[in-house]
Amino acid sequence: MRIMVTGGAGFMGSDFVRYLAKEHPDWEIINFDVLTYAGDLSRLNEIASHPTYHFIKGDITDPEAVDRAMEGVDMVVHFAAETHVDRSIMDASVFVRTNVLGTHILLEAARKHTVKRFHHVSTDEVYGELDLEANEKFNEESPYRPRSPYAASKAASDHLVYAYHTTYGLPVTISHSVNNYGVYHFPEKIIPLFITNALEDKPMPIYGDGLSARDYLYVSDHSRAIHLILTKGRIGEAYCIAGNNKTNGIQVADVILAATNKPATLKRFVKDRPGHDRRYALDASKIERELGFRPQVNFEEGIKRTIDWYRNNVEWWKRVKSGEYQKYYERQYQLTK
Ligand code: TYD
Repeated sequence: MRIMVTGGAGFMGSDFVRYLAKEHPDWEIINFDVLTYAGDLSRLNEIASHPTYHFIKGDITDPEAVDRAMEGVDMVVHFAAETHVDRSIMDASVFVRTNVLGTHILLEAARKHTVKRFHHVSTDEVYGELDLEANEKFNEESPYRPRSPYAASKAASDHLVYAYHTTYGLPVTISHSVNNYGVYHFPEKIIPLFITNALEDKPMPIYGDGLSARDYLYVSDHSRAIHLILTKGRIGEAYCIAGNNKTNGIQVADVILAATNKPATLKRFVKDRPGHDRRYALDASKIERELGFRPQVNFEEGIKRTIDWYRNNVEWWKRVKSGEYQKYYERQYQLTK
């Protein structure tokens, strides 16, 4: 088996690559990643010398590089994407380019090379927002109602994936996951940002009233779910993956402050994100029923593991938090004041 993972140097992609290398030491893994600000190969140090692991530095929007990399590939698992909503609000162009154009280029190559599976990693955000108080959750049948430029770019890429299935018979699957968190998470999303800020005694910028809620899934559970979809999922189907908790910005801050023994004065309420989706939640009964998937790491355990990891890997996050990132974050922080 030869499997190409796009975005394998990213947070979720690298967890999946590490998972695959353990689960299938005989599979050839091609990690195809352009190494943007959010990509970092040190996430893969432990498997870098594995004889069946290969890294190709390449851009999914470069048709020739994609074509070369896909030679002899049996399965593609497509993680590569721009993912941060706040960045998409400031400049959507790279989101359209990478997420929409990049996916199209991969689909074309997958078709040409007659891959046996194209798995597209999508998001719950394509379904739009839910009311805070309602019990409703989205599922695979919910209509698409993306609201941020990021969500719209992922929705567009999902539509292309389905179109390549119905039009050309490309054997696709799609997953929609809730927010992932865990080790090696780039510190711009709320959990790693608040943990690293707390450890540096810096304020935690809580958007708006801090009550907007998300469901958080520990990243290793996500990798396990993707692997199940690849090995047992039905072609042409989408699967929702959930963590089954409902956690708002204030709760994220409080749990991190308690675990790091830092004062509540680090909580800083700032201007809300424009178009801030109030709540995301998924009904993941399909993947449980069909593939027997349930998350193994609950939020309490996952956040503890994550905080411990950031405590023990200060060098890593200090390095990725410097340079280009620092400039972005300062600009973004000014905007939210
Ligand atoms: P984020 O981690 O950016 O993921 P997404 O917007 O894709 O769900 O945000 C998660 C929640 O945390 C969301 O309600 C916005 C909020 N948030 C803050 O309050 N402060 C922050 O600095 C960030 C990054 C997010």
